[in-house]
Amino acid sequence: MQPENVRQASYRGVEDPQRLYLAMLQDGEHDAREWLSTQLRRTASMADDLPDDPAQLESWAANHAAQVATDHTRYLTRRHQGAPRHYFANRAHALWFLQQVAPTKVVDGAWLHGVLRHWRDFRFHGLIRTFLEELGDGDPRCNHVLIYQRLLSRLGCDQGLPLDPSRYLQGVVQLALGRHAEHFLPEVIGYNLGYEQPPLHLLITTHELAELGIDAHYFQLHVTIDNAACGHARRALQSLRLLMPGQCAKAFYDRVRQGYRLNDLGIDTPSMIVSFDLEDELLAALQRKRPYGQFMHSDRCRLQGRTINQWLADAEAMPGFLRALEAQQWVRRGEAPSHSRFWTLIDGPQAAMFGVFTAYEKQLLHDWIVGDTAAEDCRRVRPGQWERDLALEQDAPVAQGEVCVDRMIERMWGNRHATPNGLRATRDFIHATGLTRAGPN
Ligand SMILES: [Fe+2]
Ligand SMILES: [Fe+2]
Repeated sequence: MQPENVRQASYRGVEDPQRLYLAMLQDGEHDAREWLSTQLRRTASMADDLPDDPAQLESWAANHAAQVATDHTRYLTRRHQGAPRHYFANRAHALWFLQQVAPTKVVDGAWLHGVLRHWRDFRFHGLIRTFLEELGDGDPRCNHVLIYQRLLSRLGCDQGLPLDPSRYLQGVVQLALGRHAEHFLPEVIGYNLGYEQPPLHLLITTHELAELGIDAHYFQLHVTIDNAACGHARRALQSLRLLMPGQCAKAFYDRVRQGYRLNDLGIDTPSMIVSFDLEDELLAALQRKRPYGQFMHSDRCRLQGRTINQWLADAEAMPGFLRALEAQQWVRRGEAPSHSRFWTLIDGPQAAMFGVFTAYEKQLLHDWIVGDTAAEDCRRVRPGQWERDLALEQDAPVAQGEVCVDRMIERMWGNRHATPNGLRATRDFIHATGLTRAGPN
């Protein structure tokens, strides 16, 4: 995070999605309206699969769900017949993926924030309920952002892997829609319609994460809560029907479609997953460590005539360093990592370099050493972080006199709703507006 730089920047017209993302999270008032208009112009020439006649949306949604179910069945059949995982070659690959999508996941629901102020209007209640469910109704166990953050921290993947700025694009789209819902209501409805239809890749991801011993609860939760029968996908359609005006319906629906297409900006999930390269990621991890490690080793540590400090002082040397580790048998690829001297230096509480590598970095090294024989090896590398205790009792109370609904809404902005204050504000909002989740008496 770069709060000072971000605060001092002139945000208007800034194109870098990462800077814009951080700026919007820091400063809820930040104006991303022009940026969003630019993105919407980009969607004007894009195609989509929505029907031209909104009356056919029901059958479109049913067909979509049926197609996903058929493709998923085919996937499962192939897997039962012995086909390898479709997405994740190894555990490091999956951990990499979880970090690539983190900027989007940790603002889950943000595109709907702007509808909260319509809480008196029943036509908005479906969208508001969806948003509140993204927030877990203020229960830290059910808040989607917190569930994802706990997942990352349990896996030792919460240290902010440097990401390509484009990974922040969808997150900014969500924040901008949430901030400017008054100007972009049809687009919010359209984006929501697209985002809440469970895609095939969600089902496959859920399956393969579980197979790799990674808690897939976040993904499984979205398979169920977004379902097209009565879940968020269904509510998205109902909300469109209720909010579509009698007059100018065509112009409204055209804008809904543009909002829907915003989901397609940036790289799609399957293509992003395929772009993973284990050795490139390992080299990137070593490159990040290099400046810190280059003065830390004794000169007795030598590899092919160079001290480790000399290796690490050279910005171009990391590929050669890996080759040298192999050549000198410090790592024995294709064998269990415990056979590699280098691995024993970093793994385990007695290891000479204990704590130098994060759980994710160790997983990269582990899977690189094991190589293709890792395809069915789901061995976990011990995470370095522990789940934080987020019990309700820890919540800081919202001060008396501040319990007006607008204040509560402000505390639910971006990812603020995942803080103790934001969780409390969410529960207060539900209480004050009466928009509780229906249940049996
Ligand atoms: Fe969610
Ligand atoms: Fe959802």
